[in-house]
Amino acid sequence: MDEILSVQNLRKIFVKKQIFSSKTSVVRAVDDVSFSVKKGDVFVLAGESGSGKTTIARLILKAIPADEGKIIFQGEEITDDEKSLKKIRMQCHMIQQDPYSSINPRMKVSEIISEPLEIHNVGTQKEREKAVIDALREVRLEPPEEIVKKYPHMLSGGQRQRVVLARALILKPKLIIADEPVSMLDVSIRAEILELMQELQNKHGISYIYITHDLSTARYVGQKIAIMYMGKIVETGPINDVLLHPKHPYTQALIDAISEPDPDNRFKEKKIRINEPLDIDVYQGCRFRARCPYAIEKCKEDPPLEEIDGNRKVSCFVKLE
Ligand SMILES: Nc1ncnc2c1ncn2[C@@H]1O[C@H](COP(=O)(O)OP(=O)(O)O)[C@@H](O)[C@H]1O
Ligand SMILES: [Mg+2]
Repeated sequence: MDEILSVQNLRKIFVKKQIFSSKTSVVRAVDDVSFSVKKGDVFVLAGESGSGKTTIARLILKAIPADEGKIIFQGEEITDDEKSLKKIRMQCHMIQQDPYSSINPRMKVSEIISEPLEIHNVGTQKEREKAVIDALREVRLEPPEEIVKKYPHMLSGGQRQRVVLARALILKPKLIIADEPVSMLDVSIRAEILELMQELQNKHGISYIYITHDLSTARYVGQKIAIMYMGKIVETGPINDVLLHPKHPYTQALIDAISEPDPDNRFKEKKIRINEPLDIDVYQGCRFRARCPYAIEKCKEDPPLEEIDGNRKVSCFVKLE
């Protein structure tokens, strides 16, 4: 079996109370999402803010209950029974965008990194201490004997994210879900952290789900990609195929957003504006149609996520050439 994770028809709807009114609004945060991650691969989940990426991560870890759908991890469905939850929580770790949301500023590095071992009752005190030192070496925070004594505020942003990575590694997970792990860091240190993640992927055969709103980092880290728009996957496939030959106008828009302006190619540049307000019922038909320059009458219907070229899928009636 070469899949570490398979997510099937996952759905999560939030009902939000509107501020200053008694009205509620419904957000289809994750709407019938299916994908699978091959062992040892980096699977990129991309899409702008609010598209449902973090909700998917939380659903996989059972941090919140799904309305519908299945999570299959290492060939077994993750259910709500304690054994099943322990399995996913020990073998799958999440790295969050903001290191402060996953580390307690009042804890020393040694405590931060060893906490998962304590929660899951793994090892003796001595074994835990050694594991912490080893993890710090893995993420190249030197000298580990000094680093363990520090508090998060004594570290740089890049060092803090290495601590978060060390904490994620401590239980020797099979899958790491990295939710925008470098978006809060300076551009100059992003590459270092991504390289480190890649090195750990190769060394330990860890699989990743790499979540990002920025495609510029995606191409260098991943094998497969899924592009999300408003709770749905609109396009998915091998990363180079999707990014070099996008078929969905929204994928093209995301690529345009990171492309260097090309003076010889002005008509292509930013041909899709992705910040237009929506004034339609977005959950009827293609959700992107109000912002899509290629929209046709048919787009009022729901476009199915259809297979093309054998290994790709796209949910669009038009499909770019
Ligand atoms: N706990 C929640 N309650 C209500 N709405 C939520 C909650 N969490 C997320 N949402 C909404 O679900 C949508 C997807 O959010 P999220 O998964 O955080 O997107 P992303 O990570 O892609 O930015 C957004 O519209 C967001 O406002
Ligand atoms: Mg998010």
